[in-house]
Formats: sequence, C-alpha cells, structure tokens
Amino acid sequence: MIELKKLSTDDGHDIYDMLQTMPKNENGLINNVNGMTYDEYKEWLLKKQQESEQTGLVDGWKVPSATYWLYVDAVPVGFGNVRSFLTDALKKAGGNIGYGIAPLYRGKGYGSELLHLLLQKAHEAGVDKALLTIHADNLPSLAAAMANGGVITEKTDERIWVWIDTCQ
Ligand SMILES: CC(C)(COP(=O)(O)OP(=O)(O)OC[C@H]1O[C@@H](n2cnc3c(N)ncnc32)[C@H](O)[C@@H]1OP(=O)(O)O)[C@@H](O)C(=O)NCCC(=O)NCCS
Repeated sequence: MIELKKLSTDDGHDIYDMLQTMPKNENGLINNVNGMTYDEYKEWLLKKQQESEQTGLVDGWKVPSATYWLYVDAVPVGFGNVRSFLTDALKKAGGNIGYGIAPLYRGKGYGSELLHLLLQKAHEAGVDKALLTIHADNLPSLAAAMANGGVITEKTDERIWVWIDTCQ
C-alpha cells in the first residue's frame, strides 16, 4: 500500500533513520535532518509543522510549506514539500514542489507516484498549476515530471522549468 502522511511532531525513528540515508542537498532538495541528533530532529519537526501552518510570508521570504512522507507498506521511502504560493525567488529556483526518494528505493516508480500524490496536495492547498524547477542533468526528476503531465516552459544549461496542472 502506498500512502502520504503529513509531517507530525509525533514522527519517530522510522522517519529519522530514512532521512539519515538521504543526502543533505541533492539537486537542490535540502535535507537538514541528515547529521542531526534525534533531539534536534524532534525540534526540527516542530519548526516544520509551524511552517506548514503559517498563512503568509514569514521574515519577508518564507512561504507556507507542508512536508509529507511517502510510505510503502508502512515503510517510509521518501518525502516531499508543497509550497502553496511562489515568491519571485521561488519562480527562479525552488518552485511549488520538491521531493526525493531514499537511494535504496529509487528506480521502482515511487518518485513518479510521490509526485502524483504531492500534486493532489498542492491542488488541495489551492495551487492550480504547480511549478517544478529541475536541474538540467536530473533526468529521473524530468521523466517523473513529464509522466505527470509536465509542460516545459523554459530551459537553460542549468535548469528546466516545468508546470503541471494539478487537476488530474
Ligand atoms: C528524482 C527522484 C525522486 C526519482 O525517484 P525514483 O523513485 O527513482 O523515480 P521513478 O522510479 O518513479 O522513475 C521516474 C522516472 O525516471 C526514470 N528514471 C529513473 N532512473 C533514471 C535514470 N537513472 N536516468 C534516467 N531516467 C531515470 C524512470 O524511467 C521514470 O520515467 P518514466 O516515468 O518515463 O518511466 C530520485 O531520483 C531522487 O530522490 N533524486 C534526488 C532528489 C531529487 O533530485 N529530487 C527532485 C528535485 S527536487
């Protein structure tokens, strides 16, 4: 069974252990929990939950961002963030959705499925079209975006901008 679970301050060792297996920064996807102690992770969960509850910009640049875990047969295999609106900076890099699958579980279709489920969450958050900014050499991420109905609107040597209709 594949399901998304929203980040909660009750999250425990299964999520913590998964995040230790994912890089701190991979293709722009930031994983601050890699290298944290378990206590630091529990504090981080609280901060992330607050970020998902804010309604406007915080500190002039932070948009509301909700984090979800992807579980396959009750095992966490990846995560994603949904930002419910974009600043000019996020339109250049970051977009509405960032996501990743733990290295052990890649190449099994979970990345495409995670993106599909995150697009539904973006729709629920009021996003009709979601932007993904993809590193030009990130072929798996580009393939997952195109498999989910992505439309490329801009391309440079560094980055590809893909919009996806969230009404799927
Ligand atoms: C991008 C990522 C989430 C894909 O996860 P995954 O579970 O391996 O993806 P899937 O198995 O669903 O494959 C997705 C697509 O990529 C293709 N793909 C997988 N590995 C590939 C590779 N090494 N080269 C080219 N294409 C590849 C698959 O064939 C599939 O395409 P299809 O839908 O047309 O068949 C994963 O590689 C990852 O976590 N990367 C690090 C973080 C990241 O780059 N996130 C995205 C930017 S925020």
